This record gives sequence, structure tokens and C-alpha cells, in this order.
Amino acid sequence: MAVRGMNLCSICGLILYFVAAVFAGRDFYKILGVSRSASVKDIKKAYRKLALQLHPDRNQDDPDAQDKFADLGAAYEVLSDEEKRKQYDQYGEEGLKEGHHSSHGDIFSSFFGDFGFMFEVYSGNFVEVVRNKPIAKEAPGKRKCNCRQEMRTTQLGPGRFQMTQEVVCDECPNVKLVNEEKTLEVEIEQGVRDEMEYPFIGEGEPHIDGEPGDLRFRIKVMKHPVFERRGDDLYTNVTISLVEALVGFEMDIKHLDGHKVHIVRDRITKPGAKLWKKGEGLPNFDNNNIRGSLIVTFDVEFPKDQLDEKEKQDVRQLLKQASTQKVYNGLQGY
Ligand SMILES: *[C@@H]1O[C@H](CO)[C@@H](O)[C@H](O)[C@H]1NC(C)=O
Repeated sequence: MAVRGMNLCSICGLILYFVAAVFAGRDFYKILGVSRSASVKDIKKAYRKLALQLHPDRNQDDPDAQDKFADLGAAYEVLSDEEKRKQYDQYGEEGLKEGHHSSHGDIFSSFFGDFGFMFEVYSGNFVEVVRNKPIAKEAPGKRKCNCRQEMRTTQLGPGRFQMTQEVVCDECPNVKLVNEEKTLEVEIEQGVRDEMEYPFIGEGEPHIDGEPGDLRFRIKVMKHPVFERRGDDLYTNVTISLVEALVGFEMDIKHLDGHKVHIVRDRITKPGAKLWKKGEGLPNFDNNNIRGSLIVTFDVEFPKDQLDEKEKQDVRQLLKQASTQKVYNGLQGY
């Protein structure tokens, strides 16, 4: 009994030590609401959602709004950076102060593989966009603002009045628009469809009086040299030799993220034959767990060299195929 008790206690000690070491400072994982094993993608996703929710402009009744927003920013800065995150995981927030800081931009560039844009659509990702946004800055002088029509009554003489309409304006501090660089992150969600729009509320062109417009990113999915997209399905063509068409073959197709799709045929493959690979298409936009199919259409390359008499005889012998010479209208079916 005594031995068991001691063992338990030392385990308690270890756990306590571990917890204390990690959480000397803020718990960035808790702030972002993600697990300790969350991917960078999950972290960015969580940050974008929370940043909108917790923005102080939207929480003017909450006296802690500024702090919460600052905590969120700090959590994001650390956890979205591989190096800082490692340091934080090991030593907690204290450990970051002396640690070296790596540049923010590296993370984004490492996202881009060799696969082009369709890969993003396949895997989902974030793309950074720098926008030159005009920002209203105070400028010397005054300007007319809040202009409106007002009725004015003037007494012209005893019992004689005249009503006139006139434009009345207030005086506001002058402003000028100055371009500022602003980095926005557009999330390319898995299975995003062509022409889908991602709005950034209030990030459009500013108006001196009134609310700024929204900035919208419209998705244009580019053509891929190997895969054609139809909904969630991907289409590709494969040319095989006449021999492979007759005796079968084995091959790999390199998918958008580099994984291999294995194809085995031991039967005859006719020109135009289609092979469906379920689950190898694009992830469905509404439900990423469902994937479309990859549809492979084969065409057959014939030998370039002509056969001599002996070879012709051999082929006849080998295939023993009777003559079929059917004439038909191929455009209207049989
Ligand atoms: C490629 O595959 C598509 C889709 O199945 C098919 O319509 C097309 O004819 C094929 N192209 C060639 C050159 O065989």
C-alpha cells in the first residue's frame, strides 16, 4: 500500500510541475480554443473567427474587450509561428521573451507547394494578399459635412412670410486619403467552387462621409494540365500502349497533393474505357468528409512500326478474332 501511495504522489508531482511549466503565462491554446495538436491551418481558422467576434468595435459594452483582443493577437502571433510555438510548448510564455523571433512571412511562403492553385482547392489553405488601402487621415483645414436641406421662414413685412429651402452644412475637420499597405488573408476552403466570393466587411474603398464598402475576393479556379474539375469530380486521361490495353498494366497517377493513386488492370482496356476511383476527387465544399471521384479515361496508342507478313500472321493466330465490319451511324447511337 505504502509503495503504491508513493508512486501516485510522484506522478502527481510530475503532472503539477509540467502544468506549472507550461502555463506560467497565458494559455494561448485555450484563448484560441484549439487543441495542443492543432495544425497551423486550424489555428488560423480559429483566429479569423475569433478576431471578428472579439473585435473591440463590436464589444463596446465589454470593459475587457481590449485585453481579450490583445490576448488573441498574442496567442495567434505565437502559435502561428512554428519556432515560437515550439518555445512556448516547452517553456510557456516566459520562455518566449529570451527566445529568438523568426519572421512572420516565412510561414505563408512555405504553404505554396509545386502544385499550383488547384492543390489549394484540394487541401484548403490560406493565401496572403497585400492591399493598398486608402485610409482617411486628418488634414489641416475644415470641410463642409453632414449637409442637409432645411426650410427657412423669413418675415417680409407685417403678416407676410416667405418660406425658402436652403442647404445647411456642418464644419468637420478636413481629411485626406493616404494609401497604406494592409495584409489580408483569404482562406481557400477545401472544395471551394469557382466564382465563390469571400467578403471582407468594411475593407472596401472608404467614403469620406459614411461607411466604407466591402472588399470581395472572387475565386477563379485555374485550369490544371492533368486534372479537369466537374463539381467535386476530377477527370484525367491516360494513354496506354496497345499491348497494355490487351494484356493489362499497373501504374500510379500522381495526385494534386503528391499522393499516388494506384491503378491495376489485368483485363482488356478498350479505348475510351473509364475507370472510377471513388473518394479521389475533390472534397465537397459543404462537407469536407465527402469526396468526389477521380475518373480516368483511357486512350490507346498503336504501334508506330508496320507489321511484316510473318507478324501479321502471328497476330491473326494469337487473337483469333473474327472479322467484324459493322457500318453504323456513330453520332446517333446504334
Ligand atoms: C479524355 O477524357 C474525357 C472525359 O472522359 C473524354 O471525353 C475525352 O474524349 C478524353 N480525351 C481523349 C483525347 O481521349
